[in-house]
Amino acid sequence: MRKPIIAGNWKMNKTRDEALQFIYSVNMKLPNKALVDSVICAQAPVLRDLVKRQGDNLRIGAQTMHYLDQGAYTGEISAALLENIGVEYVIIGHSERRAYYNETDDAINKKLHQAFRYNITPILCVGESLATREAGTTNKFVKEQLVAALKGLGSEQVKSMVIAYEPIWAIGTGKTATAEMANETISHIRQVVKELYGDESASVVRIQYGGSVKPANIEELLAQSDIDGALIGGASLNEEDFLFMANAAVKK
Ligand code: PGA
Repeated sequence: MRKPIIAGNWKMNKTRDEALQFIYSVNMKLPNKALVDSVICAQAPVLRDLVKRQGDNLRIGAQTMHYLDQGAYTGEISAALLENIGVEYVIIGHSERRAYYNETDDAINKKLHQAFRYNITPILCVGESLATREAGTTNKFVKEQLVAALKGLGSEQVKSMVIAYEPIWAIGTGKTATAEMANETISHIRQVVKELYGDESASVVRIQYGGSVKPANIEELLAQSDIDGALIGGASLNEEDFLFMANAAVKK
């Protein structure tokens, strides 16, 4: 009953020409939007070009944005501009932003509120480091991230957002969490949503897995009970791989 969502996170990759080439070759072959949400999150300067060419079954997302409406914040991107150019999703709290750009739990919380103010669907990323996984405190850590990020949000907002569980040790490393391991932590995330917002929100919110997802492991991941899709970095750069993974979600 939860519609799968396959999102590509291109990170700092692709020129405008490469991005357009990708869109032209995938947008007629993506699964029907009634069955699967397919999203590409690209660098800010190409977002408008991609929105114009997204077609019926693809939607475009940003990789970050600021939490204030406007002002003297050199280099930042406002939610107002994203909404204005037709961007429908935004990744919030990716571990690379947390690690390299000091994105704090408090900023992430404010960004979620801001995304909702501008009708942009946030994809909130949470996930533990290898040290946390090895210390056996993953569930506690992820719960703390969630509680901090979701502070003050209403249940309707939580139902409409997307959460991506991305263990940091699995991102770009070729090491995927086993499907069972991913499902276990994602079930825990759903449980935390249940504690905070009740049964209905927990059963509606979509939770993706991310971290070295590729055509070879997408089916096994999607076969898990609580995994509603994937946030895909490296493998989303390739047209055929992205199509394969979006189409694999139809069977979910
Ligand atoms: P990866 O990245 O698929 O290249 O591991 C995932 C992500 O960072 O969202």
